[in-house]
Amino acid sequence: MSFRVFNGEVKNKATKIFGGVASGICDWDDIKYPHMLTLYKELFGNYWIEDEIRLTNDLKQYRDSLTEREKYVYNVLTGMLTSLDSVANRFNFTIGHTCTDPSVAAVIQIIGAFEGLHARSYQYLTSTMLNSEEKKQAFNAPKEIHILRERNNMIFDKIQDFIDNPTDFNKLYHALLANLVLEGVFFTGAFVYFNSLARSNRMIGSNNMVNLIKTDENFHSVFYGDVMKILMLENEQLNTKENYNNAINFIRFCVEKEKEWADYIFDGIDILSVSEYKDYIEYLSNVICRNAGLEEVYPDNKELKSQWIITYGTKGGNTKGDFFQTNVISYGHESGDGFDL
Ligand SMILES: [Fe+2]
Ligand SMILES: [Fe+2]
Repeated sequence: MSFRVFNGEVKNKATKIFGGVASGICDWDDIKYPHMLTLYKELFGNYWIEDEIRLTNDLKQYRDSLTEREKYVYNVLTGMLTSLDSVANRFNFTIGHTCTDPSVAAVIQIIGAFEGLHARSYQYLTSTMLNSEEKKQAFNAPKEIHILRERNNMIFDKIQDFIDNPTDFNKLYHALLANLVLEGVFFTGAFVYFNSLARSNRMIGSNNMVNLIKTDENFHSVFYGDVMKILMLENEQLNTKENYNNAINFIRFCVEKEKEWADYIFDGIDILSVSEYKDYIEYLSNVICRNAGLEEVYPDNKELKSQWIITYGTKGGNTKGDFFQTNVISYGHESGDGFDL
């Protein structure tokens, strides 16, 4: 499954987003799924770069007011997030390459570029805060910590399986689901640690950056959820009970692995309750289920219980000027109604 760059014999509008035909001319007035244009514009509108964030106070606080354990978790999570975004960057490249519809491929290209920016942003945090020994610790953690490697491999294996078999729609579907877990659960879950540091009035710059990334990830999750629904619609053979059960079981399994990881990594951290974190993970997995058109897996966590995550985990200030002028963000309280984190 690849795509034709130009085919003068067929219409501009793609017949399917994957495995269909299209002329290759991207006419935004003649696309199969018009909301792709809205998504495209919104993604562009969210443009930012890491240099907008000042980390002077973070550097001081990292040295003076984080406990050794808090530093270790900061390092490992930053390294872990870098590894996930490095994979996301490359995965988007492959997905874009196999996509027939030029409008969908255009959205994927922006997402891929932003994943690269995210990886660079974590690099900015580590380069600012960590000495060379700590940096080594951060970037080797995804290779060296067994429980983390095991958790990540569940995702990476599905993605690799598709990359090795790009014509297999079933593998594509499950790679997209794995990517959704990666973005919507593994990433978004880890952001809470930064939110909790901000809640204790430390590392505000790092948290501001993480919240910019989170805003992007929310978009990605909605987009890829849509792609999965469209893929299912366009390829009825995927719409089987077995496939559905596999998807639900995979999510459950990932959530269990994430909980084990949380027990490990947040041990000795007193600014974050692990049981609260586990509820949040279940809530996040319900969000990705909703986005992908699956039934929610955890009925007890349909609503967000920890409202403080909205307070500290939402992009604040809303204008870039706020980041240039000050490190302190005035956190706005939101009700959270209908707001998917
Ligand atoms: Fe990302
Ligand atoms: Fe993403």
